[in-house]
Amino acid sequence: MKEIKRTVIVDALKRTDYGAEINIRGWVRTRRGNKNVGFIALNDGSTINNIQVVVDMAKFDEEQLKPITTGAAISVNGRLTESIGSGQNVEIQADEILVYGTADPNTYPLQKKGHTMEYLREIAHLRPRTNTFGAVFRIRHHMAMAIHSFFHQNGFFYFHTPLITASDCEGAGQMFQVTTKNLYNLKKTDEGKIDYSDDFFGKQASLTVSGQLEGELAATALGKIYTFGPTFRAENSNTPRHLAEFWMIEPEIAFIQLDELMDLEEDFIKYCVRWALEHCADDLAFLNKMIDNGLIERLKSVVETDFVRLPYSDGIKILEEAIAQGRKFEYPVYWGCDLASEHERFLVEEHFKCPVIMTDYPKEIKAFYMKQNADGRTVQGTDVLFPQIGEIIGGSVREESYDKLMARIDELQIPMKDMWWYLDTRRFGTVPHAGFGLGFERLMLFVTGMQNIRDVIPFPRTPNNCEF
Ligand code: 4AD
Ligand code: MG
Repeated sequence: MKEIKRTVIVDALKRTDYGAEINIRGWVRTRRGNKNVGFIALNDGSTINNIQVVVDMAKFDEEQLKPITTGAAISVNGRLTESIGSGQNVEIQADEILVYGTADPNTYPLQKKGHTMEYLREIAHLRPRTNTFGAVFRIRHHMAMAIHSFFHQNGFFYFHTPLITASDCEGAGQMFQVTTKNLYNLKKTDEGKIDYSDDFFGKQASLTVSGQLEGELAATALGKIYTFGPTFRAENSNTPRHLAEFWMIEPEIAFIQLDELMDLEEDFIKYCVRWALEHCADDLAFLNKMIDNGLIERLKSVVETDFVRLPYSDGIKILEEAIAQGRKFEYPVYWGCDLASEHERFLVEEHFKCPVIMTDYPKEIKAFYMKQNADGRTVQGTDVLFPQIGEIIGGSVREESYDKLMARIDELQIPMKDMWWYLDTRRFGTVPHAGFGLGFERLMLFVTGMQNIRDVIPFPRTPNNCEF
């Protein structure tokens, strides 16, 4: 076969130099035709759109064309031609075709269209070759770019926090342990507890649930930082919004207070959604058509509306009024309760009909590091609540007073042995500071309209699932 430099399909589809000799490579989506002419829809992942390869059957040996079935990988030399058929402007008139790899029609799992999401999860190694997952993973890339671009443009430094840690940031005890110990033969202390002194780190270590504590160290030195990396939670919640391994973006900023934190949360999400609308139009149009007809409208509306800012106590009042008027919820509502996703979604989707930033939560339901309000009951935590998703961001102003922080740590009996370095931020040059964590896959759920968090990360990790 003649050596011609490859053109990716996304570029080929934009060309108008009809007659040019080009080479394209990709995977066959479908093949149809008759004795005289064949049509191959080819996709190489660069775009949701296929290019049509037109095959004049007289020019080819039938045996050579036989292995060109759905899923096969081929290389095509041919001439770019103006397409008269509907849909695209260009197609390729094939001169030569090379088959790299065949895909046996009897065993290739992606034959027909319309597989269920559940089935596709079982073949997560092949699902990126479907239109839906191709679109989702291209958008995932664009969201990562949007995030780095937003922070870089706004003077934040990308700071790398460790994945292996000896501290539990959220204090929820949902950590996966990291050990090289022989689990069949654990060394115990005299009191019968596991002796970690001869383990790899000489103490108990885990996978991080959040980079925030180290992020605070960085913010109180570099001023404005963000992290963006994997996070691990051994919470046994089998829901469409929880993963055991997810990606989190955690900015942390010195010298700001609550209203500035909320401005940042709102600007940041809007920037990402706008980026998707600007850079992922084809993929969004596909998802809007196939997955969720309200998607693009919802994305546009989030970019255009001001988020409601709502103290927790006011939110509880609204929910109590709704209940008094007959609205039913599965879980009870009272001041002090941790809102369930049904409550959050009521406020966002039914009451305000726009995203809500809820603030000033009861201290009992929030982490130890949140800044305490003068009322002695609430803390300056902020959760951003989104239509369809519920909580997409969790953040807070941090308690900068050493004494108040220590009092809270004592109250909650948090083991301080491994936290001395964190407390040093409050001992030396402490400043007001604040930050938040955005769950990357929750953002992905919102931007793609996909219904299950397992379908916006390539290889989901959930209870009883560690395949691929
Ligand atoms: O609300 P969370 O637990 O807050 C923190 O971890 C803080 N340290 C963040 C900070 O202030 N720097 O988690 C933050 C966000 C949630 O709002 C949610 O979007 C996401 O992380 N998240 C999860 N996403 C997927 N699967 C899970 N199991 C998640 N747990 C939290
Ligand atoms: Mg939270």
